[in-house]
Amino acid sequence: MNTYIVKGDICFSRSMDEIVCLEQGSIVVENARVTGVFQTLPARYAALPVLDYGHRLILPGMSDLHVHAPQFAFRGLGMDMELLEWLNTYTFPEESKYQDLEYAHRAYESFVRHLVHSTTTRASIFATIHVPATLHLMELLEQSGLRTYVGKVNMNRNCPVYLREISKNQAVRDTVAWIEAAEKFEKTKPILTPRFIPSCTDDLMYALSELRRQYGLPVQSHLSENPGEIAWVAELCPGTKFYGESYSRYGLFGGGVPTVMAHCIYSPDDEAALMKQNRVMIAHCPTSNENVIAGIAPAAYYLRGGWRVGLGSDVAGGQTLDLFTVMATAVQVSKLRWRYIDQSEKPLTMVEALYMATVGGGDFWADFGEKVGLFEDGYAFDALVLDDDPLKNMRAFSAAERLERYAYLGKGKLTAKFAAGEKLL
Ligand code: GUN
Ligand code: FE
Repeated sequence: MNTYIVKGDICFSRSMDEIVCLEQGSIVVENARVTGVFQTLPARYAALPVLDYGHRLILPGMSDLHVHAPQFAFRGLGMDMELLEWLNTYTFPEESKYQDLEYAHRAYESFVRHLVHSTTTRASIFATIHVPATLHLMELLEQSGLRTYVGKVNMNRNCPVYLREISKNQAVRDTVAWIEAAEKFEKTKPILTPRFIPSCTDDLMYALSELRRQYGLPVQSHLSENPGEIAWVAELCPGTKFYGESYSRYGLFGGGVPTVMAHCIYSPDDEAALMKQNRVMIAHCPTSNENVIAGIAPAAYYLRGGWRVGLGSDVAGGQTLDLFTVMATAVQVSKLRWRYIDQSEKPLTMVEALYMATVGGGDFWADFGEKVGLFEDGYAFDALVLDDDPLKNMRAFSAAERLERYAYLGKGKLTAKFAAGEKLL
């Protein structure tokens, strides 16, 4: 079925302050892309097959710009520690288990199954340092139909020996083997993934930057998440003025290189200015930022000020893959920021949160020539069909109100899902 119509109560963000709703509207899909959205379907389309979802909500698929697949197995644990202690106590021991392919298979099957049943259609994912397990994760994702970038993680210092690349040369050999083995995938692409500055030596960063250039890869990492981490980076990189500079001096910070940086909570003005100039994507991860006591990112300031911002679940810093929960949390923590930290930006609205989850995060794919995140001519048909019957109440709600309640109440049900025109559920 290359060409078809999808009918239902359609809602999507057209801009960061406008949700468009077409109750009983129709989307025309041709060869995996949207070619039209209509309140009344023109007669010329009358012969096409129709997937009629009645009064279910139809939304664009969401992009999770920052999630750790190997941390899914212990999500919801250890939520009383700050980042660096949490990494050493929970994360590193768990990630070391992915050396065992049998363990990785069971854990990654569960991760991918949950991701397919979530509202995420696209994601940028961290794996571990292990090449066979990372390729296996990519295989499972490829079969799922989700559209993802996946990174074999690089880390060769300041981490336990049981989860450390044994040398820079070995790290490079493994990274090359992984990149070349991943060439066979269509929907699952490699993204260069130095864990963060504390875990990578300068010579490894330099070598990764060479590989990046050679293979034309995008980059993902962590930035300015926690005060202790930032002080540590300043010690490790005495010649730099700010954390982001320790990536940019290797050409791993946007500027023609598609880059996602998670968190950016404490970015000083010069770091933020460089992110904007270099079109670095910010993955705002408010559930994680609460759990590992990181802080509250100035997401409203970034979004309204023209930075590129999407959302990240950051499982297992974040407790859930559900981006509706992340959206509601983004709104809620922005209110605390406004009340307690900075009155210069009004709190985020749910309209802005939906924009970040769909259009904002989807903008990462624009770096690769694909339009993602809304229903307009030329956009990839990524869509969610949501049953909010369990939320019905005394009065009728508009489509936009239904969407808001869906995000806050978490009692609705995903009944169908499409990524690039392919039906996953
Ligand atoms: N910084 C370095 N590694 C990690 C990680 O696994 N999660 C989070 N939230 N921050 C990190
Ligand atoms: Fe993370």
